Amino acid sequence: MAIVKISSENVTLSEPAEIGSFLARFGIEYERWVPDRPLAADAAADEVLVVYGREVEALKARGGYVTADVIDVKPETPNLDAMLARFSREHWHDEDEVRFIVEGRGLFHVHPPDSPVFAIEVEAGDLIRVPRGTHHWFDLCADRRIRAIRLFQDPSGWTPHYTDTGIDQGFQPVCFGRSYIPPLQPIRV
Ligand SMILES: [Fe+2]
Repeated sequence: MAIVKISSENVTLSEPAEIGSFLARFGIEYERWVPDRPLAADAAADEVLVVYGREVEALKARGGYVTADVIDVKPETPNLDAMLARFSREHWHDEDEVRFIVEGRGLFHVHPPDSPVFAIEVEAGDLIRVPRGTHHWFDLCADRRIRAIRLFQDPSGWTPHYTDTGIDQGFQPVCFGRSYIPPLQPIRV
């Protein structure tokens, strides 16, 4: 499940319902999707789209999306650093940014016009829809792995427009990780 952090307010949200209502204030949709049947880690893209077909079709109808594909990013993906650099600076799109995470993780930062920047760490099972025009940036986590379904209204419109504010420089592109457990303190008796 996703985690939301508003670092300037020292707030962390980890319950799906509170994450959903917080993100809705900024027009961002968040859902959890459960596959109709188990999906093998090496399943082909077509199979991924079939297994989540019901949810994908519902979202297409609701958001006017006409195409869906599956993006697969691994540490060995050619030109990975150049690809990531395109999206790790604050930008916005003419299209919604719609991602359902099939495998791996990623970190969105969102910069609303009148509210502090917040981060959303997404992982497998998370659907996020960032509306067109929203200022944001994206980083992979340290394992540099993400596989995600993307939906488009018009794929040709999905290019980053950079704000060049440099605000992204003030935020660490470091994932939080639900599995993080603070080191145990020695117990003295
Ligand atoms: Fe983006």
